[in-house]
Amino acid sequence: MSPRNDHHVRLFIPGPVEVRPEILDAQAEWMIGHRSSDFAALYARMQPKLQQTFYTQHPVYLYTSSGTGVWESASRCAVRDEARILHLTCGAFSERWAEVSELNGKQVDVIAVEWGQAVKPEQLADALRRTAYDAVACVMNETSTGVRNPVEDYAEVLKDYPETLFLVDVVSIYAGAKVDVDGWGIDVCLTSTQKAFALPPGMAFAAVSPAVLERARQVRNRGYYFDVLEIDKHHQKNNTPATPPISLMYAADRQLDDILAEGLEARFARHERMAQMTREWVKRAGFALFSEEGYHSPTVTTVANTREIDISALNAFLRERGMVISNGYGKLKGKTFRIAHMGDTQPEDMAALFAAMDEFLTRVG
Ligand SMILES: Cc1ncc(COP(=O)(O)O)c(C=O)c1O
Repeated sequence: MSPRNDHHVRLFIPGPVEVRPEILDAQAEWMIGHRSSDFAALYARMQPKLQQTFYTQHPVYLYTSSGTGVWESASRCAVRDEARILHLTCGAFSERWAEVSELNGKQVDVIAVEWGQAVKPEQLADALRRTAYDAVACVMNETSTGVRNPVEDYAEVLKDYPETLFLVDVVSIYAGAKVDVDGWGIDVCLTSTQKAFALPPGMAFAAVSPAVLERARQVRNRGYYFDVLEIDKHHQKNNTPATPPISLMYAADRQLDDILAEGLEARFARHERMAQMTREWVKRAGFALFSEEGYHSPTVTTVANTREIDISALNAFLRERGMVISNGYGKLKGKTFRIAHMGDTQPEDMAALFAAMDEFLTRVG
């Protein structure tokens, strides 16, 4: 018998996302000690699958934290005390990462564009010509604005700056679109589990290049919990420095199998199809896309509330039908709303959501 209650509300919010019953069940496996050979086997069998999904030969570390923890880890370990980090910001999450770097005592410069716009590679090229940076940090998919930044174009620019590490937050796009870690020369590629990977929250992954470990050796205060050198030392033994979320690892192991069985290309195409359906609905329903043309996210759509509907009333209506979407983030609350189309959500689920939203719009006129 399922231990779950019967108040199932399907999440169309950009994290946590809907998790399939099979994945929830995978967490219920018997516990094992994290210094046991069974654990090492679990850790080891996840590695090649993680590397495949990140398109990398680098190790993929497991963090017992959400994605924010890996921001701390990357900012702290990839930037020397006397050096600087450049943050590309275009929304709430990219701004917060810049703040996290500052709070970790780093010297931060920022290229900021208006929310809804993407940061352009020429802006990065300009900044790099003027100042030397230990690292450039960006958010590939800005979940607040629905912008997918041109990370592959930043990669081209960064080819001329081999000393500058490339730190990329792929939190709301990993497992929903291709993130070519090695092809794009990404040094830290970080994500949480509760977005397009479609696991419960509580764990994060990061593909980390040897150049980051080299840099970390030159940083005095790396702390302990998020120190990449400490994490790497244990990684070599298929282990983690502290107790990891073993139940989530069982679920991740199962989810990696399922993702690879679906096929990465097929999974990305499904995300693209759902994004397309969403953009078509936005136009058909008389709203507008908040994100800049040419930079729309494949996993989350931020809708400009041009019809000035009551988003709380919409969500109350949807909840009665077992669904929920997300209001705008931070200063965009009320002015936008967000529809996530990521993870294991299917086009049929999107169609059901749009039918319910159409019904609401007809009622409010
Ligand atoms: C792009 C992006 N980066 C980072 C975060 C923070 O991640 P977490 O909540 O897993 O710490 C979020 C959360 O929504 C996000 O969307």
